[in-house]
Amino acid sequence: MKDIITLGIESSCDETSVAIVKNGREVLSNVINTQIEIHTQFGGVVPEIASRKHVENISNVTKQALKEANMTFEDIDIIACTYGPGLVGALLVGVSYAKSLSYALNKPLVGTNHIEGHIAANYITNLDLEPPFLCLIISGGHTHLVHIKNYKDFEILGKTRDDAIGEAFDKVARVIGLGYPGGPKVDKLAKQGQANIALPKTHFDNLDFSFSGIKTAVINLHHKDPQINKANLCASFEKTVTEELIDNTLKAAKSLGIKKIALAGGVSANSYIRNSFESLKKDGYEIFYPNIKLCTDNAAMIASAGYYNYINGKISNLTLNAIPNLKLE
Ligand code: KG4
Ligand code: ZN
Repeated sequence: MKDIITLGIESSCDETSVAIVKNGREVLSNVINTQIEIHTQFGGVVPEIASRKHVENISNVTKQALKEANMTFEDIDIIACTYGPGLVGALLVGVSYAKSLSYALNKPLVGTNHIEGHIAANYITNLDLEPPFLCLIISGGHTHLVHIKNYKDFEILGKTRDDAIGEAFDKVARVIGLGYPGGPKVDKLAKQGQANIALPKTHFDNLDFSFSGIKTAVINLHHKDPQINKANLCASFEKTVTEELIDNTLKAAKSLGIKKIALAGGVSANSYIRNSFESLKKDGYEIFYPNIKLCTDNAAMIASAGYYNYINGKISNLTLNAIPNLKLE
């Protein structure tokens, strides 16, 4: 069978990224231009600035991706881009760029769901991973427990009722003075602490999550006693949210009889969460994660998800638009 080369474009938040991926799993290049330094000054992503930076960068990032893959536009078979969920202005830059490439080069366009991209990051890192499996997508914008039935059918088993888990990490970090983006900073500081502070854990009858209660509890403890040991606070926060993640994931795994569990999204880079899921291997579970670089936003994961959409006949046309609240279905 002829190889299929996908050019993937990601611009849903503060990373402008373009990647070239062969047959959905082999990354030939994955250029990521992050705007973190710019947004750090504001304590979070400023949507208007993000859009402007995407416009400035997208063409050069694309050229660099082609150069690193040693390819030209002629070598590309399909163009995949994130069309949601995300910041509308940021998404529009990638979608418009992808549409113009598709039109000018006369190559198929594949609009791709950003969350499906996070799931597909696992296909790149774990070459043997095939559906069905459970995927826990934990990122700055999403917390979803999903049954991946095959490459195109997903069932959402549970999701957050309030904050995404990454939002909670970022907010806790901001309030206790660690800065933005908070997740990696909480991860680092927690290693020096003890999880010895009791925090509220949420339980629902179904597989939903909630992180706003624990976030508020951490913030209140810090406000009440600014001298509180921040490392212990971070360690306790991580332990409590991880228990919530594991409880729901195991409940789903047991009821569906699934032994394969994959993590995805920026928060799956967290070392405590990884180690905790790793310990489930002793109970016969297979645990998968993307490489750290593929956990946070990147275009290789979009190219991979786009490839699977394409071979399953999910192809877009030039009416493709950005959908900021696009659901996984
Ligand atoms: O997947 P991502 O790049 O963007 C979204 O699609 O939302 O995730 C970004 C999130 C941020 O909240 C960031 O703080 C968090 O991932 N994150 C981490 C770690 N690295 C990134 N959270 C906890 N521990 C980490 N090591
Ligand atoms: Zn993301």
